[in-house]
Amino acid sequence: AKRQVLKGAYLTFTGDPFKTDPADCYLYESDGLVVLKDGKVEMIGTRSLIEPELAELDYELTDYSGSDKLIMPGFVDCHVHYPQLPIIGAYGTQLLDWLNKYTFVAEQAYSDIDYAKAVAEVFFKELLRAGTTTAAAFCTVHPQSVDAFFSEAAKLDLRMVAGKVMMDRHAPEALTDTAQSGYDQSKALIEKWHGNGRALYALTPRFAPTSTPEQLEATGALRREHEGVYVQSHLSENTDEIAWVKDLFPGRKGYLDVYDHYGLIGEKTVYGHCIHLTEDEWGLIHESGTAIAACPTSNLFLGSGLFDLDKAKMQGKPVKVGMSTDVGGGTSLSMLQTLNEFYKVTQLNKFSLNAIRAYYLATRGAAESLYLGDKIGSLETGMEADLIVMDLRSTPLIDFRMNTVKDIEETLFVQMTMADDRAILATYANGRLVHARD
Ligand code: GUN
Ligand code: FE
Repeated sequence: AKRQVLKGAYLTFTGDPFKTDPADCYLYESDGLVVLKDGKVEMIGTRSLIEPELAELDYELTDYSGSDKLIMPGFVDCHVHYPQLPIIGAYGTQLLDWLNKYTFVAEQAYSDIDYAKAVAEVFFKELLRAGTTTAAAFCTVHPQSVDAFFSEAAKLDLRMVAGKVMMDRHAPEALTDTAQSGYDQSKALIEKWHGNGRALYALTPRFAPTSTPEQLEATGALRREHEGVYVQSHLSENTDEIAWVKDLFPGRKGYLDVYDHYGLIGEKTVYGHCIHLTEDEWGLIHESGTAIAACPTSNLFLGSGLFDLDKAKMQGKPVKVGMSTDVGGGTSLSMLQTLNEFYKVTQLNKFSLNAIRAYYLATRGAAESLYLGDKIGSLETGMEADLIVMDLRSTPLIDFRMNTVKDIEETLFVQMTMADDRAILATYANGRLVHARD
């Protein structure tokens, strides 16, 4: 494919704004060029510096210049359930009732691979419309739900992390596997998909209450036997859930200790929610390099609680945090809308999330939480070319508000407060245009 050159303002993160001054952690270039070749960022910088390098080369130019557009890394969603897209916005219950009433009904349909492919197709279309280029996704208990997901992702050449849900108790019979069949099916899926193109596999025990000790043991074994695979699950989302885990695993110190006991914490391991952690659990997450997927729209929608970002990032023992939608418990695939809600959650905790930190958590910080910070989440030479172009005046009211914005930080904050998928003008994945608005 021909070299692509994108012209316009761009923004990318160069450091961790929770560790050093946010002003020193990003790079904003108002007159830039981004050169894409063979799915990678080949060159990026000020236009006057890159233009001479391009003189002899063959390329196709796309002009995104002007003060109303911004090129950025694609968003990274660290925790989402694609099979729950058909039940997004289901009224009236908290976690455990919501699972039984809506989720466990909807997920039964994925025994049909054609249905699974049809939903996966909608999911990717909506994800790219929202500007998200990588997600760590839960499928269902059916291996074919994983085949559907990764085969649709491959058509668009997307970097995706996903896995078959394992559940061998406390779920309808049509949604359960066994310790042995969960092991065998996961192993076959790892061999088929992990490292196949841009696909990466995640062992996915749904959460401690739906797996027997035997199944968690088998999950730990799979992890030891397949270097580099991910683990994803849920942790300390809801107080009734936590009490249930205590009843089911009386020999363990607490919820996280269940996962730790079976070898399910550490690098390339992502737990959704983590709303009600104990002091010991925060410490263990820090030491082990386990990542937290923060899911504000879901936590508000299901009434689960407020994630303590101040504790997670500012109090001496920082942990990896990546922004996540948790659709269908979450209410939007838009990372901008997710940041909007996250800001309000932090306000209620008396810690006001600023825009630089917010966008970091949705791009480079999320990529680092998935141990993919060397591949995605930033715009630099050699990184995979997953990026978006934002329209900074996507609605009449945002257009009006932008007239009084004074700098890039305020611009970003207004966007995350007011904008949504309408602000995503274009999405590129692996150097290819995969979504264009209108
Ligand atoms: N805990 C176990 N399963 C789920 C799920 O599907 N969604 C959410 N939000 N929490 C869970
Ligand atoms: Fe979830």
